[in-house]
Parts: sequence; C-alpha cells; structure tokens
Amino acid sequence: MSGQQTILKVEGLTKQFGGVAAVHDVSFEVKEGEIFAVIGPNGAGKTTLFNMITGVLPVTTGKVYFKDRELTGLKPYQIAALGVTRTFQNLEVFSNMTVIENVMTGAHLRMNTGILRAGFRFPSVVREEVNIMEKAMECLKLVGIEHLAYERAVTLPYGNQRLLEIARAYVSEPELIFLDEPLAGLNSEETRKWINVILKMRENGMTFVFVEHDIEAVMSISDRIVVLDNGIKIGEGTPEEIYENPKVVAAYLGEEEEDAVSC
Ligand SMILES: Nc1ncnc2c1ncn2[C@@H]1O[C@H](COP(=O)(O)OP(=O)(O)OP(=O)(O)O)[C@@H](O)[C@H]1O
Ligand SMILES: [Mg+2]
Repeated sequence: MSGQQTILKVEGLTKQFGGVAAVHDVSFEVKEGEIFAVIGPNGAGKTTLFNMITGVLPVTTGKVYFKDRELTGLKPYQIAALGVTRTFQNLEVFSNMTVIENVMTGAHLRMNTGILRAGFRFPSVVREEVNIMEKAMECLKLVGIEHLAYERAVTLPYGNQRLLEIARAYVSEPELIFLDEPLAGLNSEETRKWINVILKMRENGMTFVFVEHDIEAVMSISDRIVVLDNGIKIGEGTPEEIYENPKVVAAYLGEEEEDAVSC
C-alpha cells in the first residue's frame, strides 16, 4: 500500500473518563483504499477511539484529520457530510421501515434538500428522492439483498440486517467507512458474504476502518492492523507482523488461542 495518499491521520488521541484514560495518546495513519483493523481485548478503548474520530465524543487531547481537513471538534453530521460514515456496535435498523427506506435514510446525510424545500415537494426535490431511491437500490444490489428491498427490515435474518447496515453507510458515497464489530453474531456463511461485499466495495475505491473480534476474518481481510490494550497502542503492522508481535500475543492473541482450545 506504499505510495498511496493518507486518508485518515489520528494524532495523539486521548480520552479521559474521570481519572481513567480509556484511550491514551493513540496515533496512526490509514491510506486510501486500505482495509484497516483496530483490535484488542474488551474494554481496550476501540469504540471510544471510533467515537472520538467520528465526532460522537469530544476528544480530551489530540487531533484527527480526514485528508487535509481537521475533523476534531466537528459534529457527527458535519463529519458525515464530508464523506466519513460509520456503523455502531449495536446493530440498529429502523424496524418499522422497509429495507430500501432504511438505506435511503443514509443518503439523506449528504442530500442537497433542506427541510423547508423538502416540505414543499418542488420538482427538484422529487427528482432528488427518485435519484436516492435508485442509488439505494444499486447499493442493495451490491450487497446482494435487492430482492428484499420492500420487506420490513425487522423481518430480515441477522446476517442480512448487517448487509443492510453496510448499504446504508455506503449509499451517501462516502470515502471512508468505520464499522464497529460488523461480524458480531454472524455465522461463517454470513461472514463469508460480508467479506466478499467489503472486498467488492474496496475495489470500487472505498477505504474501511473496522473493529472486530473475529481474528480469522481480521487477518484474512486487513492490509494493516492497530492493536489497543488498556487504551494504549501496543502494536501496528500487517497481519503477519501482528501475529509475530510478542506484546500482542501476550495481551490478546494468546487469550484468543486459549479460547479456541477450550471450545
Ligand atoms: N461514556 C463512558 N463513561 C465512562 N467510561 C466509559 C465510557 N465509555 C467507555 N468507557 C470505558 O472506557 C473503556 C473503553 O471502552 P470501549 O467501549 O471503548 O472499549 P472497546 O474496546 O470498544 O470494548 P469492546 O470490545 O467490549 O466493545 C472501558 O473501561 C469502558 O468502561
Ligand atoms: Mg466496543
């Protein structure tokens, strides 16, 4: 991945909750087109890190840049409008909406229409809605669930809801997507489908940063990985480098292997 432009730069991010640093002085860079993983034990600070980068939580200290633009201090909707979207650790679909309506809510993050204009249903507004619907359908095709477009989202099996979640993050044509434990609760067949979708989107130029505990999936799909433990970055590198990092093995991977043996 050398020679590519930096799309995300995280500089010395720290988050204090009272006297405790949930994230302490974490820095890393992500290059355009990378699939970049953040791993580490429960409570390591992964979600807190994502929350700071995407504006959900204010940083205590440190800076975040998306290309040349500083994100620190911006609100989540402002960050989304710049082309950075995310999903949350707890899967959230709007259960009373259809699948396609759920995806369309993602597109409204970046549409031109203000609330006032939308209320008046000008022809340009209607045209924009139609465009969004077409775009949402394209995204559903990309993730392979277009045949379910008019089903109520809540009736979908979990694996398909996870694909819907990616389609919703993708529809606003972002350049960078954050995913927090996207494989939680998926079986191996659903995981395989998810991996194929991510690889296809990356071929279209998307950059991904994701948190995940499924180490096999992380190692098979990631270009580079950052490892957090107790809020501190203890390792960074390619999957091979991470496997050979004694600090990472002691803090996290060793524990995973023991779990595997005890199953
Ligand atoms: N709003 C908050 N107020 C106080 N402490 C918090 C808050 N959010 C998170 N923490 C603490 O910060 C630490 C890091 O939590 P975080 O959720 O970022 O971990 P994580 O790496 O995402 O864990 P998991 O793998 O279980 O999702 C934990 O000790 C957690 O209890
Ligand atoms: Mg988390």
